[in-house]
Amino acid sequence: MKFPFRCFTLLALVLFYSIANAQTSDPAKMKSFIDALMARMTTEEKIGQLNLVVGGEATTGSVVSMDVSSKIRKGQVGGIFSVTTPNRVRKAQEMAVNESRLKIPMLFGLDVIHGYKTIFPIPLGLSCSWDMQLIEQSARIAAQEASADGLNWTFSPMVDISRDPRWGRVAEGSGEDPYLGSAIAKAMVKGYQGDDLSAKNTIMACVKHYALYGAAEGGRDYNTVDMSRVRMYNEYFPPYKAAVDAGVATVMTSFNEIDGIPATANKWLITDVLRKQWGFRGMVVSDYTSVNEMTSHGLGDLKTVSALAIKAGLDMDMVGEGFLTTLQQSLKEGKVTMADINRACRMVLESKYKLGLFEDPYRYCDENRAKNELFTEANRKQERITAAHSFVLLKNQGPVLPLSRKGSIALVGPLADSRENLVGTWSVAADYANPPISLLTAIKQAVGSSANVLYAKGANLTRDADMEARVSIFGKKMERDNRPADVLIDEALKVAAGADVIVAALGEAAEMTGESSSRSDISLPSSQKDLLKALVNTGKPVVVVLFTGRPLVLPEEEKIATAILNVWFPGSEGANAIADVLFGDVNPSGKLTASFPRSVGQIPIYYSSKNTGRPLVGTGFEKFRSNYLDVPNDPLFPFGYGLSYTSFGYSEVKLSSANLKGNQKLEASVTVTNTGKYAGEEVVQLYIRDIVGTNTRPLKELKGFRKISLQPGEAKQVNFTVSTDDLRFYNNDLKYDWEPGAFRIFIGTNSRDTKSADVNWTK
Ligand code: BGC
Repeated sequence: MKFPFRCFTLLALVLFYSIANAQTSDPAKMKSFIDALMARMTTEEKIGQLNLVVGGEATTGSVVSMDVSSKIRKGQVGGIFSVTTPNRVRKAQEMAVNESRLKIPMLFGLDVIHGYKTIFPIPLGLSCSWDMQLIEQSARIAAQEASADGLNWTFSPMVDISRDPRWGRVAEGSGEDPYLGSAIAKAMVKGYQGDDLSAKNTIMACVKHYALYGAAEGGRDYNTVDMSRVRMYNEYFPPYKAAVDAGVATVMTSFNEIDGIPATANKWLITDVLRKQWGFRGMVVSDYTSVNEMTSHGLGDLKTVSALAIKAGLDMDMVGEGFLTTLQQSLKEGKVTMADINRACRMVLESKYKLGLFEDPYRYCDENRAKNELFTEANRKQERITAAHSFVLLKNQGPVLPLSRKGSIALVGPLADSRENLVGTWSVAADYANPPISLLTAIKQAVGSSANVLYAKGANLTRDADMEARVSIFGKKMERDNRPADVLIDEALKVAAGADVIVAALGEAAEMTGESSSRSDISLPSSQKDLLKALVNTGKPVVVVLFTGRPLVLPEEEKIATAILNVWFPGSEGANAIADVLFGDVNPSGKLTASFPRSVGQIPIYYSSKNTGRPLVGTGFEKFRSNYLDVPNDPLFPFGYGLSYTSFGYSEVKLSSANLKGNQKLEASVTVTNTGKYAGEEVVQLYIRDIVGTNTRPLKELKGFRKISLQPGEAKQVNFTVSTDDLRFYNNDLKYDWEPGAFRIFIGTNSRDTKSADVNWTK
């Protein structure tokens, strides 16, 4: 009896899945398909769908998933992450589809954060391109590669605003500004998901970490967050909302608390704001064991916190298995309802439906695609262009850059011959067996026989060998040289003695930023400072190529280095991209998206600060004004800052009218002229100040930007249209509106150097 019955069930299911799922974009069809499927599911099977397990070795916590295969067979796994390649994904999927009772396919996720095999610049670097096409394209390529290798879900984009560079995860976000962050969030979602989630080369995006994760106290990862609602809505929520508006398929809750309730069990956050106010219709997943961690937060045992999470609106539980192991019991005890479980289960099943997995569970398991579409020449070419556009030229005295391909170039520094570090943090799929070429190799290749390239390491990453060991993880080794520091410096000086110019590759190792990589001291390690001083003392020009995942504190370096080119962690073709910029094949055009402080004591530091009642008027210290005794208020390098090999002149700001009414639109324009010798790109930035309000308003808020290219001598008029939408803000009652009155419109090359004109806008 058993065999024919099974056979029948199988046939019925195959028929059921293929008929019902033929049209993945029709909500009515999706609903009736999922209604029918859920009608066949036991409570246990429904809870099973809410379980996300981790496969492979990629873990970001102390807990790993156990007995994964047997759980899949029992229908206790809704999705799995960190299992890749068509073959492995197919095998795991076969277990679900052939061996579990209802044969429901699984989701396959991974942290595809800034590229898959072709690694793009770290997100903070990418954001400095201010180029939404390049950014979208990087996510498109990441999705193409990931989907060719078995995946259908990425835990990206990370859109957490952060104004605290001590926090290691600033590397993963787009900096300090909500307007720019929102534009990037949208571009990333579009890039990953395309127009059709059921296409074989698109994947679900997951906006994270909802919410406010970047505002951890003291910049210490996972730490408490406490913030006014006005600030949340105006400054920290917009990028999450932009991702939702762009149709992001999934949302990840954050580790931190908000108003004393961890995000993962925060009903206000998940249900009231995300689902009701913003209309989010997709799946909400926890962060890695963030359900369980609520026990440590002090909210109760695993059963209690799991019930709190599902009741708050969480659908899927990442790794911790609180849902899997306790929800049945909570249901019996009346702590959760069947409606809670049904809602969460429906959200997971809908995600699978939208991806087309019921139609073809193996749609991402095409060996041919994996063979032909990963790490292609075209993708690497695009990455090289993108990387060069992410670099920010912080200083260029002389100008010493671009270098010419002649004479002798001394390349020194702990990052000059490093390979694995070029890809930066969160590049889990990178091929560490074949890491990118180092800067040393790239420079040698770039100059060929026309210049002489000399090399010495000059210093270890840091004097602290333990620290170096701590950051030599996830495939990113630093080859420590155990000779004394002065011996290393002497060697570098000998090399420098024979050179015309010194290029010093300094900064952080890749894993000095990223998750759980906060630093309290964000200056250059002293081993490198000493090396730089010694090099500068030679009297030769010293170009610092700065690798970093965060804004660093660099006042001394800014004083003594001849030039500083910030290259972040530039990705698979990063070294070639650096050579492209150093030798002028590409003119740098990146602009900072996070302020560089003068000292750690200035943190949090951001351009859109408030005036206060006692603003500093001049630049020097003033008693009883809002300032410091020992450091100016302004950052070393402001938001939006970045130099070019050419120079740009800005005209005065022209407004279409100085008086506007109601929904009229304002045209604001400037003429930008390339006044230098090189063709170049410039990011023209528009900021607004609401001069008088019922609430205090920031001194400047970014409300527009355009990236333009200009030939030497060429001028272009750059126009911005400002509408009352750009004037709106959440007031103290959380009402989103604009208020009539005076506004100052600033246009300029960065948030500090602007020209302005005033407008009066009545209702
Ligand atoms: C991180 C997330 C990540 C997840 C899965 C967590 O520790 O906070 O950003 O997506 O691990 O790897």
